[in-house]
This record gives sequence, structure tokens and C-alpha cells, in this order.
Amino acid sequence: MYDSKARYVRSLFSKVPLEYDLLLGLLTFGQDRKWRAFVVEQTEPLPDSVVLDVATGTGLLAADFANAVANKGLVVGVDLTLSMLETAKERLRLKGLTGRTDWVLARAENLPFRDDCFRSASISLALRNVSDARMTFREMARATTPGGVVISLDFARPPNRLFRLIYYDYLLGLFPIFGRVVSRAWGRTLSYLGRSILKSRTGNQIATLMVEEGLPDTRPVPLTQGIVYAVYGRKR
Ligand SMILES: C[S@@+](CC[C@H](N)C(=O)[O-])C[C@H]1O[C@@H](n2cnc3c(N)ncnc32)[C@H](O)[C@@H]1O
Repeated sequence: MYDSKARYVRSLFSKVPLEYDLLLGLLTFGQDRKWRAFVVEQTEPLPDSVVLDVATGTGLLAADFANAVANKGLVVGVDLTLSMLETAKERLRLKGLTGRTDWVLARAENLPFRDDCFRSASISLALRNVSDARMTFREMARATTPGGVVISLDFARPPNRLFRLIYYDYLLGLFPIFGRVVSRAWGRTLSYLGRSILKSRTGNQIATLMVEEGLPDTRPVPLTQGIVYAVYGRKR
């Protein structure tokens, strides 16, 4: 079942997969690579790990995980937008990572996996997009094995006021204009991105939610002046 937010989000992302990787890199000045590297480092994937990437999109993070787990491991990417998953599958095939990946069309709030079956579970740049963040963490924690890491990386409102002023101009002014130059769909997607970041949870709020969903010792870490927060905890 898809609620109205899920339908809206799916309609946005279904039209942007081809340019997604390039635009993300351009708009974040390449910082997105560092953020993903941080996520992979915190989850400590072993060569034979089976790891889950929720709301995987075009599989950027899944590719980094697939490189980290090596031949014996497996990365399972979940998303509710079919065209994003198809793009992920093709991009990782071209990188020679097909044997280490599996793709599942499903919702973050209702993961079709057994309890305790993944070494780690991640959600990157997508917590703002899910319909139910609490349910998403509950499901990620359920599917992760005890001792494994659950991690969220997402855009946030930077804490420094001066930096925030400059950043908001960029985000709310320049982003949608730039998007519209690329296509109508990108105009919509980037204007949604700005609006959703203004309403985003703080790192501490995300950490509290994760603790409430069974992930004690969860901590938020700001990256790039707090443009994004990585928040992660270990399942007991
Ligand atoms: C901004 S993209 C992020 C993709 C990728 N994780 C990354 O870091 O680049 C957001 C993705 O979340 C997916 N998504 C949004 N809500 C979802 C949900 N409830 N369940 C599964 N996927 C969802 C969208 O389809 C889209 O592919």
C-alpha cells in the first residue's frame, strides 16, 4: 500500500535516475563521496558480510558497500521506485558488481526480510523522504543482526547561523533554478529537496528516534558544516 507521500516521492524520483549521480556530485561539490565513505567506514563491512541499503536509489552507496564486502559478501538494495532500482542494477553491472548485489522493490517501512539477517543497514539521503521514519528504523533494526550497525545519513539544517544564511540562498534560490535548466522533473525534485531540508529532523532528534527503536548508544555526527548528519547505533 502506498500513502500519498510515498506516491508523491515515487513520482518525483521515477523521472530523475539517469542524471541523479552526476547532479548529486555537482551540487554537493563532490562531498557526497566523502559522506558515503564515512558511512561505509562506520558499518565496518567484513568481506563476507550481507548488508542492507534502504532507499538505495541509483545504488551509489550500494556500490561502495559492494566494493567493501568483496566477492563473498552481498549488498541488498531496497527502493520503492522501480526506475531508480533499474538504474542501480545497470550501473553496478557496468562496474562488474552484479554478483555481489541484489535489488528489491519494497518500502522502507515494511522490509520483506527475516529478523537479524543483515550485518548492517543504511539509509542515505532518504530519511526525509520516507513516510514513517520511526517504522523505517524499527524495520532496519529488526532486520539487522545483534552487534550490527544501523546508520542514517541525511541532509539537515546546519547549526552555524552565518553558514546557514549562505547555504539556504544556495539551496532555496539556486537549486530549483539550476534544476529547471536541466528539466522540469529536476526543477520539481530540487525544489522539493529544499523544502524537505527545512523540515528535516536534527541529528539529535534522529538519534532519539533510533534509541527508541532499540538502538542504544546512537550518536549524531555532523559532516561538512552540518549540511548532513550521519547518525548511527549498534543493535544489542
Ligand atoms: C535522494 S534518493 C537517495 C538515493 C541514495 N540512497 C543516495 O544516497 O544517493 C531517495 C530515494 O529514496 C527512495 N524512497 C523514498 N521513500 C522510500 C520508502 N518509503 N521506501 C523505500 N524507498 C524510498 C526514493 O525512491 C529514492 O530512490
